[in-house]
Amino acid sequence: MNIFLAGASGLVGSAFARAAVRRGHRVVGVIGRFAGEVEGLAQAVRIDLADEMATTSAVLEVFPEAIVNAAALSMPEACDANPALAQALNVALPANLARLAHHVTARLVHLSSEQVFDGARRQPYGRGDATAPINLYGRQKVESERLVHAAAPELAVTLRPPLLLGHSVTGTRSVHERLLAEWAAGRTPRLYTDEFRQPCTAENLAEVMVELCERDDVTGVFHWAGAELVSRHELGVRIRERFKLTATEAPLAAVTRADTPEVARRRPPCLALDLQPLAGSLKTKPQPLSGQLAELTVPPPVRSWFLGR
Ligand SMILES: NC(=O)c1ccc[n+]([C@@H]2O[C@H](COP(=O)([O-])OP(=O)(O)OC[C@H]3O[C@@H](n4cnc5c(N)ncnc54)[C@H](OP(=O)(O)O)[C@@H]3O)[C@@H](O)[C@H]2O)c1
Repeated sequence: MNIFLAGASGLVGSAFARAAVRRGHRVVGVIGRFAGEVEGLAQAVRIDLADEMATTSAVLEVFPEAIVNAAALSMPEACDANPALAQALNVALPANLARLAHHVTARLVHLSSEQVFDGARRQPYGRGDATAPINLYGRQKVESERLVHAAAPELAVTLRPPLLLGHSVTGTRSVHERLLAEWAAGRTPRLYTDEFRQPCTAENLAEVMVELCERDDVTGVFHWAGAELVSRHELGVRIRERFKLTATEAPLAAVTRADTPEVARRRPPCLALDLQPLAGSLKTKPQPLSGQLAELTVPPPVRSWFLGR
C-alpha cells in the first residue's frame, strides 16, 4: 500500500514508518525541522505542514491509498505559547488531510488525544462519552475530530492515544527518554502521585495504526492505550527499576497536584480509557506495563552517562 505520512520524524510517526515497512508498505513521509534520516521511508518530503498549498501538492503527488496524520504541535504548553501555529497544525492540517483523503479515496488515520476529556472521574472514558477539554490542545483535538469525520466519514478513523513511552528519532521525546535525560543532567524530576495515565508505547500504537490502514471496516473515533492505569510518580519509579538505577542515581520528587495548582488546573487528573470495541477487533493487543518497560532501551543521548555512572 502507498502511504502518505505526515509527522514522519515524530515519536509516533517514526514508529509508524518502521512498522509499516515491516508489513510491506511504501511510506512517503513528511519531515519538518528534524535534520536526520528516518528509518523506513521510501521517500522523505521536507515541507511546512502549516502551509496548506504545499501539503496539498505533496499529497496529490503521491496519490496515496492511505494518509496517516501523526503531525501536530503535540505539547499542550507549546499550544498555549503559539495558538495560531497550534490551530494550523492541530486543526487546519487534519481537516485538509481529510478533504484530500475524500478527494483521492484514501484511508485516513488521524491521531487525537486522551486530553479531549477533563479527567475529573476515575472510571474509564468510553469513546462515546462527552468530551470536555480543559486546555487549548484538548479543544483543538476535539475540533480536529469533528472536521475530519465531517469531511471523510466513510474513510477516516481517529485514535485517542495516551501518554507515550517508546523510542524517538532524537532520543529525547518519550516519557522514559525525558526522564533519563533529567537524571543524566543531575536533576530531580518532580512527578505527581495523584495524576493518573494509561500509557502505551509508540511502537504498539504504530502497529494499531498500520492495521487500521489495512482495514476499511473501521471508521469513527476510538481509544487506544496500555492495559494499566498508573500515577506519573509510579511510572517514574517503574522506569527507574527497569534500568536498574538506584534512587541516588535517579532521584524522584513525589508531588501532588495541590503543590502546583496553577499548572494542575490545565492538566486532566485521571485519564483512564475504555479500549473497547477496538481492542476486541484487532490483532494488536494492549500491553501490560511490564511488557512495555521490557522493550525500552537507553537512548543515544544519555548512553555515555548510563554506562559511565
Ligand atoms: N506523545 C504523546 O504522549 C501523545 C499523547 C497523546 C496524543 N498524542 C498525539 O499523537 C500524535 C503524534 O504525537 P508525537 O508524540 O509523535 O508528536 P511529536 O513527536 O511532537 O512529533 C510531531 C511531528 O509533527 C511534525 N511537525 C510539527 N510541525 C510541523 C511543521 N510545521 N511542518 C512539518 N512537520 C511538522 C514534527 O516534525 P519535526 O520534528 O521534523 O519538525 C514531527 O514529525 C499527535 O497528534 C499528538 O498530539 C501524543
